[in-house]
Amino acid sequence: MRIAITGGTGFVGSHLASHLSEQGHELVLVSRGKRPSDPAGPAVTRVAANVVSGSGLVEAFAGCDAVVNLVAVIVEKRGQTFDAVNRQGAANVARATVEAGVGHLVHLSAIGADPDPRFGYLASKWSGEQAIRISGIPHTIIRSSLVFGPGDGFFVKLARLIRRTPPLFPLPIAGDGRTLFQPIAAEDIARCIGLALERGPDPRVFAVGGPDHLSYEQIVDIIRREVVSLPRIKLHVPVPAIRPVAALMAAVMRDPLVTPAQLDLLGHHNITIPGVVAAVFGFEPQRFSDRVGYLRRRGR
Ligand SMILES: NC(=O)c1ccc[n+]([C@@H]2O[C@H](COP(=O)([O-])OP(=O)(O)OC[C@H]3O[C@@H](n4cnc5c(N)ncnc54)[C@H](OP(=O)(O)O)[C@@H]3O)[C@@H](O)[C@H]2O)c1
Repeated sequence: MRIAITGGTGFVGSHLASHLSEQGHELVLVSRGKRPSDPAGPAVTRVAANVVSGSGLVEAFAGCDAVVNLVAVIVEKRGQTFDAVNRQGAANVARATVEAGVGHLVHLSAIGADPDPRFGYLASKWSGEQAIRISGIPHTIIRSSLVFGPGDGFFVKLARLIRRTPPLFPLPIAGDGRTLFQPIAAEDIARCIGLALERGPDPRVFAVGGPDHLSYEQIVDIIRREVVSLPRIKLHVPVPAIRPVAALMAAVMRDPLVTPAQLDLLGHHNITIPGVVAAVFGFEPQRFSDRVGYLRRRGR
C-alpha cells in the first residue's frame, strides 16, 4: 500500500514508519517539517503540510490507499491549540482524505477521550473523533493508553526527574500515586495500526493498552529501579500544588518536564481491558517492566 502518515516524523509516527517500511509499504510522511528525523529511505517521501490550515494535505494524500492521522499536541503553544490541532486538524485531515479519494483513514485517539470540558486535551481528542465520524470517511479509530519507547514524552521525563533528584531528597510523586495506567510499547501500537490498515475501515472504537495495569507509583518504582541504584524516600505532592508550576513550565520551556494536560491524566484511570491487544489484534504486547532499558540513556 501507499500510506500517508500525518505526524509521521513524531514519536509514534517514527515507530510506525519503521514498522510499515519493514512490511514493504510506500510511505508519505506529512508534517510541518519542524523536527529532524532519520533520512528518508527509497520508499519514503517527506511532504510539508499543516493540519491546522489544511494547506498541502490533499496533494500529500493524492494516490494513497490509506491515511493515518497522528497529529496532536499535549501542550498548547501559539497557534497550536488543542482545538486548532486536535479537533480542527482532525477535521481537515478527514476532509482532505475524502477530497483526495482515499478510502480509509486510521485516526489515533487517546483512552479517556471524553467531552468533559474541564480536561482540555482529552475533550479535544474526543472532538477530533467526532470530526472524523461526521466527515463520512470510512475510518478506524484507535484509542491508545500511554505509549512508551525511545523518544516518548512521558516516561523519559519521569526518568529524568528521578535521575536529577539528589539522593537525599525525597522523590516527588504527583497526587496519591494510585491512578492506573496500561503502558503500551511504541512498536506494539505501530503493529495495531498496521493490522488496522490491512483489515480496512471498522466503525468500532478500539481501546488498546499493554498487558499490565500499573499505578503511577508502580511506574515510578519500576523506572527508579532502572535509573538509580539506591531506593529513595517518596513524597506525595497534591496535584493542585504542582499545577501552577506545570503551567509556568508549559509557558516558558520548549520541552517542559510536566504539562497541565499530563497532570489531568493523573485524575483518571487510563486503562482498558488487559488482554485486549491479544483478543483484537492477535498478538501479545510487551510488558513495560521488561522494556525500560531505554530509560537508562540520558537526555531525551
Ligand atoms: N505519546 C503517547 O503516549 C500517546 C498516547 C495516546 C495517544 N497518543 C496520540 O498519538 C498521536 C501521536 O502522538 P506523539 O506522541 O507521537 O506526538 P508527537 O511526537 O508530538 O508528534 C506530533 C507530530 O505531528 C506533527 N505536527 C504537529 N503539528 C502539526 C501541524 N499543525 N500540521 C502538521 N503536522 C504537525 C509533528 O511534526 P512538526 O512539528 O514538524 O509539524 C510530529 O510529526 C497523537 O494523536 C496523540 O494524541 C499518543
